[in-house]
Amino acid sequence: MAFDTLIVHGTVHNAWGSAKADLGIKGGVIAAVAEPGGLGSSARRVIDASGMDVIPGCLDVHVHLALPFCGTVSCDDYESGSAAAANGCVTMVIDFAIPPAGAGLADAHEVWRDKAEGISSVDYAWHLAVTRREHLAEVPAMIARGMPTFKEFMIYEREGWNADDAMMFEALELMRLHDGMLLVHCESPRVLDLLIDRHHTPELMREHGARLHRVTRPNVVEVEAIERAVRWCEATGGRMYVVHMSTGEGADLIKAARARGVPVLAETCVQYLVLDDTVFDRPDGHLFACCPQVKKPADRARLWRGLADGEVCVASTDTCSFTREQKAMWWDHAGGYGDWTKIPMGLPGLDTMVPIVYTHGVRAGKISINRMVEVCSAAPARVMGLGDRKGALAPGFDADVAVIDPAETREVIPGVSVRSRADWNPFAGMPLGGFARWTLCRGEVLVEEGKPTPKPGHGRFVERRSPGRL
Ligand code: URP
Ligand code: ZN
Ligand code: ZN
Repeated sequence: MAFDTLIVHGTVHNAWGSAKADLGIKGGVIAAVAEPGGLGSSARRVIDASGMDVIPGCLDVHVHLALPFCGTVSCDDYESGSAAAANGCVTMVIDFAIPPAGAGLADAHEVWRDKAEGISSVDYAWHLAVTRREHLAEVPAMIARGMPTFKEFMIYEREGWNADDAMMFEALELMRLHDGMLLVHCESPRVLDLLIDRHHTPELMREHGARLHRVTRPNVVEVEAIERAVRWCEATGGRMYVVHMSTGEGADLIKAARARGVPVLAETCVQYLVLDDTVFDRPDGHLFACCPQVKKPADRARLWRGLADGEVCVASTDTCSFTREQKAMWWDHAGGYGDWTKIPMGLPGLDTMVPIVYTHGVRAGKISINRMVEVCSAAPARVMGLGDRKGALAPGFDADVAVIDPAETREVIPGVSVRSRADWNPFAGMPLGGFARWTLCRGEVLVEEGKPTPKPGHGRFVERRSPGRL
């Protein structure tokens, strides 16, 4: 068979194991996998991966691109976000389509399609945010249209996005009935509001600045919310996925719930694996504000253990990038202090998800490279309903491939080694391996010899089936 592309002499890593192998790509899919030399050398392009790690393209299933949020719009859109993704071995993103005021889920789908279509270099899909009770009526039709995952936020009343316990309960009932999955942002809104109100004085803000973000979100704010959501999940039997879990106690809760058969899954984000809340002591600490905020070194260690052992099944980024100028919206010039409740919440991250897991997980000996493939590619593909076409290097799967040079380490420098439009980076100065030497999305080269070659418009909306079991 004549191939479009051959990737030869590399070590191919799947979630189930590694082997020296050659990959033959034709028509955007993996046509053959064979022992080195077994596919010949006849192809339009031959990529020599000698000495390299060859992994399935990764999926970042938690991103917010061009999201109107906190009085501004997140600065990475589908053009810059998908270029950043490819730079970091990611070949598909799943965003959150949040209905504008008064709109429904089908409208949100259209709005997000306009943001992505003809612009994204990598493949994409979205979870649909249920922010009003009426949205629940649309759930079955949206599942039938290939969007089987939904999102509810326990917080963000100011944005009009918050769902209460009854909405969570009803949504989970629907997930059970129609084989969907509900993603939940778990933070307890009432206690959080109380703690924010108590600290929201000019005196305290002048004295403590962005540290108040950490002070007002003790671990219990997330932990109680996870505990409650797990109860609703258990009571309804509806499948649930806790997003951006940041606490060690959260991992304990998920482990215990899964052990008694509750259909709950959890992801963590790489910022919770390598940063801690001492960042808020920095002069530029407000830049690091995200919800939930980064926690303590003990949480970090427990989340790594969860990723290794399985109670944390996916690594993602929660990319929601803002520039320094946008983050400066917190500053009250007349008062001469910062109000942390006005900081646009979120961090850039698409470039660095795989590099962080590769460097601080695989190279550091916390997880194997196969486990990295599981949490960054195979598991996100499977649990989001794409297990039959993404997340593995095997015949018939999409030719989403990343090639990593294990000998290479780059320092994180905004605008140089990372492609986000944010003019700062939470991991700046960190030496990281695991950036892409090559990235192919359905056979199309998006990074070539370490140089980004984005192809806006190549990325496609991907319809998904019901989420797979773990
Ligand atoms: O701070 C964050 N995480 N911003 C994005 C919105 C969310 O809660 O995921
Ligand atoms: Zn969230
Ligand atoms: Zn998010």
